[in-house]
Amino acid sequence: MRVVIVEDAEAAGRRAAEEIADLVRRKPNAVLGLATGGTPVRCYHELVRMHREEGLDFSQVHTFNLDEYLGLAPDHPQSYRYFMQSHLFQHINVPQENTHLPDGLTKDVDATCQQYEEQIRSAGGIDIQLLGIGSDGHIAFNEPGSSLASRTRLKSLTAETIRDNARFFGSEADVPQLAITTGVGTILESRVCLMLATGQQKATAVREAIEGAVSARVTASALQLHPQSIAVLDEAAAAELDFADYYRRAEQLRESLRGAS
Ligand code: PGA
Repeated sequence: MRVVIVEDAEAAGRRAAEEIADLVRRKPNAVLGLATGGTPVRCYHELVRMHREEGLDFSQVHTFNLDEYLGLAPDHPQSYRYFMQSHLFQHINVPQENTHLPDGLTKDVDATCQQYEEQIRSAGGIDIQLLGIGSDGHIAFNEPGSSLASRTRLKSLTAETIRDNARFFGSEADVPQLAITTGVGTILESRVCLMLATGQQKATAVREAIEGAVSARVTASALQLHPQSIAVLDEAAAAELDFADYYRRAEQLRESLRGAS
């Protein structure tokens, strides 16, 4: 895994946005895999700025989000559809019909999950998948014990995730216990995986994901099996890595090679 350590959360968001923007400039009809939560907000803020100030064009882009809470309507302020509209979609020129999230109000979960997989496939697959990491090591809502070959399906959230997400809802009792999530297998089919993690509260999960054993215990560790995965971390999230100095040196060398070419 390529590990990029930057100073703070602001710089991490900018770095992730640059990776996405580079792709969109190279491939205007790119398929973006998007994530919700506190971590990607700065990245989306920067993409909005690039759209407004630099004309970054999303008119041919398609997007697929990782997950959605079961039972929340698109206009529920804590639904992930609502999050995406308010943090990104309504501020850029991506056509609304090109943006996809699992339907949290579906009456037929299995059919919805299967259809979501088919939609990703027929869009040509995901070019870059943005990911956060849960404090329990999850990617999307692939909680500990999820199959590393899993596909889009219904998952129950762990008590830890419910606790972590209660800050958005006001109380733990209001957090849905079920979500439709793309699987680890779905995520690993993306051409590039970009995991973004910031803050000291992620440091242990980040260490386990990057330097620990590949295990369903920490589903983010499955990114070690992906040939093109990048972790963008701030100093706080990188604090427990054994090989942080090596990653920093490798990035410097990478930069100097790029400068020389
Ligand atoms: P967070 O969530 O960005 O709100 O910390 C990350 C995740 O659960 O994937």
